[in-house]
Amino acid sequence: MSDRPRLLPLLGTTRHGSRDAMTCLYRCGNACDHPVPNTSDNAYFGDVVNAEVSRRGVVRTGAVGALVLGFSGAVAGALAGAAPAAAAPEVPADLDAIGFGRPEKGVGNGALTFKPVPPNTLDSFIVPNGYDHAVVITWGDPVEPGAPEFDLHGQTAAAQAKQFGYNNDFVGIIPLNRRRALLVVNHEYTNENLMFPGFTSQDALSVEQLKIAMAAHGMSVVELERVGGTGQWRPVDSGRRPYNRRVTANTTRFELTGPAAGSAWLRTAADPKGRTVVGTLNNCAGGVTPWGTVLSGEENFNQYFVGGDAAPEDAKPKLARYGISTTARYPSGSRKWERADERFDLARHPNEANRHGWIVEIDPLDPESRPRKHTALGRFKHEGANVIVAKSGHVVAYMGDDERFDYLYKFVSDKKYMKGNSWVARRHNLTLLESGTLYVAKLGFTSAGEIDGSGALPTDGAFDGTGQWIKLVSGNRSYVEGMTAADVLTFTRLAGDKVGATKMDRPEDVEPSLLTGKVYVALTNNTDRGKPGKAAADEANPRNLNKHGQVLELVEHRGDHTADTFTWSLPIVAGDPTDASTYFAGYDKTRVSPISCPDNVAFDATGNLWISTDGNALGSNDGLFATAVEGPERGHLKQFLTVPVGAEACGPFITSDNRSVFVAVQHPGEIDGASVENPASNWPDGDYAKPAVVVTWRLDGGPIGS
Ligand code: FEO
Ligand code: CA
Ligand code: CA
Repeated sequence: MSDRPRLLPLLGTTRHGSRDAMTCLYRCGNACDHPVPNTSDNAYFGDVVNAEVSRRGVVRTGAVGALVLGFSGAVAGALAGAAPAAAAPEVPADLDAIGFGRPEKGVGNGALTFKPVPPNTLDSFIVPNGYDHAVVITWGDPVEPGAPEFDLHGQTAAAQAKQFGYNNDFVGIIPLNRRRALLVVNHEYTNENLMFPGFTSQDALSVEQLKIAMAAHGMSVVELERVGGTGQWRPVDSGRRPYNRRVTANTTRFELTGPAAGSAWLRTAADPKGRTVVGTLNNCAGGVTPWGTVLSGEENFNQYFVGGDAAPEDAKPKLARYGISTTARYPSGSRKWERADERFDLARHPNEANRHGWIVEIDPLDPESRPRKHTALGRFKHEGANVIVAKSGHVVAYMGDDERFDYLYKFVSDKKYMKGNSWVARRHNLTLLESGTLYVAKLGFTSAGEIDGSGALPTDGAFDGTGQWIKLVSGNRSYVEGMTAADVLTFTRLAGDKVGATKMDRPEDVEPSLLTGKVYVALTNNTDRGKPGKAAADEANPRNLNKHGQVLELVEHRGDHTADTFTWSLPIVAGDPTDASTYFAGYDKTRVSPISCPDNVAFDATGNLWISTDGNALGSNDGLFATAVEGPERGHLKQFLTVPVGAEACGPFITSDNRSVFVAVQHPGEIDGASVENPASNWPDGDYAKPAVVVTWRLDGGPIGS
């Protein structure tokens, strides 16, 4: 953009691949500067759902309505203050077998006929012809009752703890009825240089500013209302708004559940029982469960801790495997939060880091409920978790560990999902993630001898193979030699190393299609693949120095999500379609949009796969893409929207009525040298850049995509 402000390069920063140095510094604490934490030498070959409403808290005064995770007619009365829904509609039993998200009437035929948005570097949110978009909510907007209006020059931690947080990432929508819904959002991290006027360095921030940053982390729950009969949604700005809620890094208490809760690894001076944690860190992606809660992944938690150099010697290898420096007190990218709260100093509280890196479950329908960190799902740099109900009724959560050369996991619950709208069912389903079996993936290959790191398609015409889910722990029983169940769950990466899990190219979102049961894995990139001393390309990660990433499709044996084995293939090897190393399921590449760094995936109501990108290495802004994954249009990938300069396209979420596409615009203007006074992006309102959630809809009211 010629009219972009010219920015001075920031001294002492480096770029990693296509990513701006600011992104590396603030988002991952310069993770790419640090050694790859996986130094193991293991082989690399190779609701439509019912959710009943809690009657506790403010919502208690309302009726108990059957809540259906869809906008279809089977929705009971509004949750708060509604007339009792005496005859709560039952969800047809067959829907429970596959989970929620069943297509509703009028969602369209699934043909993706929109005209693709071309690659661009505009400082705008660009949607296809025939569509419109609007900002739903922006950093600093009031969320909780009593929240003050945002005041850039008068920010306080107390105000921020009631306002919409920074750097929105995951987006989930939980319908209350056709006209009301809850927006649930993660706030992954903060850009202090873009938040505070006059910013000079992390060291120069006041303690109050550090606490503002902590309060700007976490999650938000915001009640939305539909605008007219359209696909547009906006926050409800009057009335009680009983569900509106902030979760932060420094004010919200979490309960630890599962086999590792209370273990010695999780005890600290402030919590000698090891069962209660203050705050959640670096919440990246997530998923809405069939029982109406939201799961959120604690990802790059390492960057919040200092003092690893003075941690006990026996703790150091475990810290190092999670990317925490054990040689420097202040690794590059340190946030210096220990100046505001000593628990972030591992020299004093070496176990505090073990209390982050979990999957968090929050119940947005019960605003007084205490969120939980589920140890049964393991501890790593959790991108997110997405749940499907297996044929047997057990629930299965698919998860990625977003780091170069880390692993793909799944969790299978001990208990079965309980159908129906009863209180008993909801209370039961809230315990499903507290006990079960955790597996890590080991992949096998059909063309191993042909993989040379170039991305050339094997002669059998596919990057594909089989796979095995290796059992790590089941309840309190460990299957990893020399490790207890608590060891395996708290230091899951080390367990994966021991059993020879397959080193992947940054597994991010892992999400099952609720229509087909096939699971899609976004593998963002891995520019270290094939470097000296590092794992070389394999059939699932087929390019050395992989800049653009790939998407893996996983099919469980006989469609059983509890199975121990699976098959897999790569439908998409991303990049510029003119690049011979790219692959789009064999589709005519001249008709495909360029895509780079797939990160988050979602499905529309007809089963099309939607993919958002993080760190486009082709010179264009990040965006959201859609493709069919079944039938002759499989691989016909088209760009649906692009986000402004410096931003990443997060979320995404397509409502079950197929009328609205939600996207989180994360870190707009995150460009080296940018500041509040000298923004690199003026999105969304012409002033300094602000993260915000955006909704896109079709002007004629039709289903999105077609
Ligand atoms: Fe927060 Fe893996 O992206
Ligand atoms: Ca093959
Ligand atoms: Ca992500």
